[in-house]
Amino acid sequence: MLKSFLEGLDGLTLECEARRGQACSLKDLEALRVEFLGRKGKLAAAMGALAQMGPEDKPAAGKKANEVKNALGSLLESRQAELDAAATQDALSGFDPSMPGRRPAAGSLHPITLAMQEICEVLTGLGFEVVSGPEVENDWHNFEALNMPPDHPARDMQDTLYVSDRVLLRTHTSPLQVRTMLSRKPPVAVIAPGKVYRRDSDLTHTPMFHQIEGLLVDRNVSMGDLRGTLTAFVRQLFGANTNVRFRPSFFPFTEPSAEVDISCVMCGGAGHIGNEPCRVCKKTGWVEILGCGMVDPNVYRAVGYDPEAVTGFAFGLGVERVAMLKYGIGDLRMFFENDVRFLEQFS
Ligand code: PHE
Repeated sequence: MLKSFLEGLDGLTLECEARRGQACSLKDLEALRVEFLGRKGKLAAAMGALAQMGPEDKPAAGKKANEVKNALGSLLESRQAELDAAATQDALSGFDPSMPGRRPAAGSLHPITLAMQEICEVLTGLGFEVVSGPEVENDWHNFEALNMPPDHPARDMQDTLYVSDRVLLRTHTSPLQVRTMLSRKPPVAVIAPGKVYRRDSDLTHTPMFHQIEGLLVDRNVSMGDLRGTLTAFVRQLFGANTNVRFRPSFFPFTEPSAEVDISCVMCGGAGHIGNEPCRVCKKTGWVEILGCGMVDPNVYRAVGYDPEAVTGFAFGLGVERVAMLKYGIGDLRMFFENDVRFLEQFS
């Protein structure tokens, strides 16, 4: 009886050893464990014979049963370890730890931001201080104090984006002239970069664009100072060989007023490149870049400056225009589409 019991148990070990290799998943392995070691499993069944054994055989039989139980346990456990190792190997196959990592895509400054920074750098270098003000303005700062009375055509609903009756999105940075003079005594020399808004949208106009305003007020400021300052500014921005031309113009808040042209950055002022007519300046050799003039006495009156005691000049330039000329961009819409293939060229 003992002999066949012991042989039966050895048979269990051998069978388990033979079959464990076929268990290819945790589920298979668990089924095998239940089959051999479960409460109604093969080992339990074999142990049933123990009850009929005489006391002289029981210790040897019990000892063997224990050994076999442990042996079966470690057979299944080692198979589990094999399966785990295979799973890890699978997950790692195709992974090459020596491959270089992926570089995260770095952003870059928008060309308008770059142009703004560059313009401000040149002007602060000339002694101007940067100020800023609200994009949502009232009628008085945007128009009335700038010598544009209530019936002035510039207030036309066609140009101005109104928030309410007297509140609007500033149509230019010139309200910063007013805000600066209201809050400071002369002398002042400030620039005001920022967004401005107009009801305008076509190939060459966007409802939002950027301007930089300049204002210098002191005693005895002359048109010659305006000319010298803007010439120095433009030459630092576009190169020392840039020619400058002042054309008479009109703005309600400056008198006299002028528009400033620079020699075309594309053709160098020739109007053509080889035999081809220059498309940037349309054959004229000049491109307009800013508006300016001597501050109108009515503006001084509005802000409480004495027009007999001070004089000064103001100028305003379009940042998109400068950026297009500086970076050779032919289409205004490029700035607003935010195509990364365009933007990443400025990093
Ligand atoms: N504000 C004017 C415009 O938007 C530009 C300008 C500013 C002209 C200052 C003269 C002086 O067109």
